[in-house]
Amino acid sequence: MTKKVGVLVSGRGSNLQAIIDKIAEGTLPLSISVVITDVPGAFGLERATKAGIRTVTVNRKEFQDRAAFEEQINAALGDVDGVVLAGFMRILSADFINRWYHKIINIHPALLPSFTGLHAQRQAVEYGTKLAGCTVHFVDAGTDTGPIILQKVVPAYFEDDEDSLAARILEQEHIALPEALQLWAEDRLEIVGRRVKIN
Ligand code: GAR
Repeated sequence: MTKKVGVLVSGRGSNLQAIIDKIAEGTLPLSISVVITDVPGAFGLERATKAGIRTVTVNRKEFQDRAAFEEQINAALGDVDGVVLAGFMRILSADFINRWYHKIINIHPALLPSFTGLHAQRQAVEYGTKLAGCTVHFVDAGTDTGPIILQKVVPAYFEDDEDSLAARILEQEHIALPEALQLWAEDRLEIVGRRVKIN
């Protein structure tokens, strides 16, 4: 049976678009039940609407605490099989993560475990690594620390700034995220300790 996911976005939603496109092409056996954002007016919502996907805005400012905010996200997710963080820029609580244990997948614009958190591409430029890339991983209670599904590598050049490196990485993100979701959708991922076996 086709797995249903909810996708959480905070901004432009190009990774969401990559998933939408692969589903439309018929190469990703997944269905997006809902796109949820914490940022009113995020461009990702337009992409979802255009694809005929239900959208929900859950504005953190309208909730007294994180628990209430996350409860609303859970309500919007309903009975999905999994949650995709596609440029979702908020840290989720351990309670939320546990609720979706081994069912939340995140894309991060760095080769983890390097450069966790915000501005990963800037961190790579400032550090001066010669390789950069992206990581798709299951989310655990830490920040960008969960079991890695797959990674894509790009070169980093001396002339790069944050934007040029981010653009090169983003191209690979758009390949990596649908690829990882396909493996997940086909039940080919097995979490062994903190490692992911691809069957
Ligand atoms: C992507 O580069 C994604 O990897 C990053 O935000 C961007 C969202 O772009 N996510 C994080 O940094 C999470 N810590 P998009 O909205 O166009 O998909």
